[in-house]
Amino acid sequence: MKPSLYFGILAATAFGVEAAAVTGRGGNGGGNTAIRNVFTFPPNHFIENIAVRSNSKLLITSMSVNQLWSIDPTVANPTATVIHTFSNSTGISGIAEITPDLFALVTGEWDLANTRAYLGTLQVWTVDFTKHPNPQVKFVTGIANSTIFNGVARHPTNPRLLLAADSAIGAVWRVDLMTGAYGVAFSSPLLTPTGTAPGTHLGINGLRSALPSHLYFTNSAQKFFGKVAVDWNGNQAGAIQVISNSTVAGADVVYDDIAVRRTGTGTVWIASHPDYAIGVSLANGSQQVIKNSTMLLNPTSAAFGRGSWKEEKTLYITNGGEFVGMDLVNEGVVAIDL
Ligand SMILES: *[C@@H]1O[C@H](CO)[C@@H](O)[C@H](O)[C@H]1NC(C)=O
Ligand SMILES: *[C@@H]1O[C@H](CO)[C@@H](O)[C@H](O)[C@H]1NC(C)=O
Ligand SMILES: *[C@@H]1O[C@H](CO)[C@@H](O)[C@H](O)[C@H]1NC(C)=O
Ligand SMILES: *[C@@H]1O[C@H](CO)[C@@H](O)[C@H](O)[C@H]1NC(C)=O
Ligand SMILES: *[C@@H]1O[C@H](CO)[C@@H](O)[C@H](O)[C@H]1NC(C)=O
Repeated sequence: MKPSLYFGILAATAFGVEAAAVTGRGGNGGGNTAIRNVFTFPPNHFIENIAVRSNSKLLITSMSVNQLWSIDPTVANPTATVIHTFSNSTGISGIAEITPDLFALVTGEWDLANTRAYLGTLQVWTVDFTKHPNPQVKFVTGIANSTIFNGVARHPTNPRLLLAADSAIGAVWRVDLMTGAYGVAFSSPLLTPTGTAPGTHLGINGLRSALPSHLYFTNSAQKFFGKVAVDWNGNQAGAIQVISNSTVAGADVVYDDIAVRRTGTGTVWIASHPDYAIGVSLANGSQQVIKNSTMLLNPTSAAFGRGSWKEEKTLYITNGGEFVGMDLVNEGVVAIDL
């Protein structure tokens, strides 16, 4: 894979986003925001997504390595424990908690230069940590007719449904985790990419859900963060609302995945390329910009900590990494105390 291609890929509104305020933290003025390193992976682990268990442990996926890792961020110098190796895949994209301590994730054989999976290789799995002593890993279904499930989210209330962002065709898919039945739940011109070349070919990208019945998502190519209500079956149940526009935060900002609280309130944090974390007020769309080119290295995803008051005030951000020659280095997880 060519480094330039690898990241080249990444490279009607609710509140009147043009007018919404932007405030700086860290490098954009407003004082430094301390960013702590939590864990750095060895070279060439393109870290892609994160979910947090109720016991505070971080579950981390890589699109270029086929292992699911667990990291305990509450200890000094944590290690990354392999939970499972998905042997028939080359990497993992989205991961989401479905019911307490049961997670669903997506594997595939990835063509990383094009950020697509080879047709027919996407698979949905569950990892059940309630089965002791070892987590139980179960195959749910193969997806015959999509080339990318990027971010995934549990349905806001229906625990049978996994919802997945198809960045290529501009759709949200549903997967019934009990039967393995799947199909497109809805699609929209607001979910599509703007082109087919890296840089423009990822439409809906990050995906999370929150109460009462909403999906929150980013569209990287169309440069916005928005939300949409869904019904019990995952069908679209209202107009898509644009909440913020990444170009307002900065001309080079490319939104990726999102940390959203289950309540669907407060500030969401968007991991953004090339070196940003952007806080967006759900009340008014105003954006707080954290820019740090030494600690934020192609941020791919974000999640709030869990398990204690201190953890709930901590934002974890996964770094895709940066290229040094042909090697991707400094991929991992960093933390910001909010
Ligand atoms: C980036 O983060 C590091 C670690 O917190 C900090 O020392 C540095 O000052 C930050 N840089 C900017 C530009 O804020
Ligand atoms: C991997 O693929 C091979 C060949 O298709 C199949 O026999 C095997 O069961 C698969 N393993 C898993 C873990 O899916
Ligand atoms: C994908 O395949 C499923 C299962 O065969 C089918 O129900 C669905 O209509 C297909 N969707 C698309 C977008 O091709
Ligand atoms: C975001 O802003 C850019 C630049 O002004 C514009 O091209 C784009 O259409 C906007 N996106 C939305 C969804 O408003
Ligand atoms: C937007 O809401 C946030 C709280 O979420 C508040 O701090 C900020 O001042 C508000 N900004 C504007 C422009 O109203």
